[in-house]
Amino acid sequence: MRFNLNLKECEVTSRALWASRRDFLRQTMTAGLGGWIAAPLVAKAGSLGAKPNPAFRVSDPTTPLEKVTTYNNFYEFGTSKEDPAQQATDFKVRPWKVVVEGEVNKPQTFDLDDILKLAPLEERIYRLRCVEAWSMVIPWIGFPLKELLNRVDPRGNAKFVELISLMDPDQMPGQKNAVLDWPYREGLRLDEAMHPLTLLTVGLYGDVLPNQNGAPVRIVIPWKYGFKSVKSIVRIRLTETMPVTSWMKAGPSEYGFYANVNPAVDHPRWSQAKERRIGDFLKRPTLPFNGYADQVASLYSGMDLTKNF
Ligand code: MTE
Repeated sequence: MRFNLNLKECEVTSRALWASRRDFLRQTMTAGLGGWIAAPLVAKAGSLGAKPNPAFRVSDPTTPLEKVTTYNNFYEFGTSKEDPAQQATDFKVRPWKVVVEGEVNKPQTFDLDDILKLAPLEERIYRLRCVEAWSMVIPWIGFPLKELLNRVDPRGNAKFVELISLMDPDQMPGQKNAVLDWPYREGLRLDEAMHPLTLLTVGLYGDVLPNQNGAPVRIVIPWKYGFKSVKSIVRIRLTETMPVTSWMKAGPSEYGFYANVNPAVDHPRWSQAKERRIGDFLKRPTLPFNGYADQVASLYSGMDLTKNF
């Protein structure tokens, strides 16, 4: 299965380029609320009360909320960019449990409320670079995944972490089509999962995750292509061997396990040298590791990143 590369949708320029705070509030009151109103988790604006973490924020202007919530990849709710905002409105995100199991000494099932109490919530502004060569800048809310993993006490032989989305074709109509091997599965090496940048994410732009952005809990790994950032996670499994991910299964020559953003290694069908920031007209050069090389390049020292793409 292939991504639907539709650059035309990325080329929208009619809107003001960046959301000022006023614009953001206005958008929140109007179009951007679509998915939020329907989400049972929704309460009040800014309800998560996360503290901005100045150590983890890029200075690039943030992508307007309206774009963040209407231009999505969430194949469980359809393969067009606008499908998830329209089809995920009734998605039930409470109650929600996340099973953490596998090569751990203390396997545990966490209720969403328990997860929210595990560590202080932070706001971090990260770039998200999709493999389709578009990107956004989003103020996410969450805490490092390692805070959760440390609770279950990984065993010495745990080398990888598998992240698995909900399987529920009644709620997720896209799962009735075999576009991917459901449920959506991704994986990380344990040291990548434990890296301080890897964010267990429960919100964006001050509030809970809109359904279309992976409510109620997802992962964000800013130096990797966006498809690694699994949405609506229900299971996290620590393993000794490298998990086979949904995208590796769908197209092994196109989607590798590492999926580090790398302008020097093209996707077989298109260049990865440049990207279109959603809202921009011109493309910009893509940065190695999506601009996070100082923090993460050492994880891959000695590895041939052409082979380990
Ligand atoms: N997670 C699930 N479960 N299903 C998906 O289709 N798409 C991925 C990722 N996580 C996807 C997913 C891709 S390709 C991208 S680019 C990001 O989610 C998009 O996240 P966003 O919609 O919040 O920008």
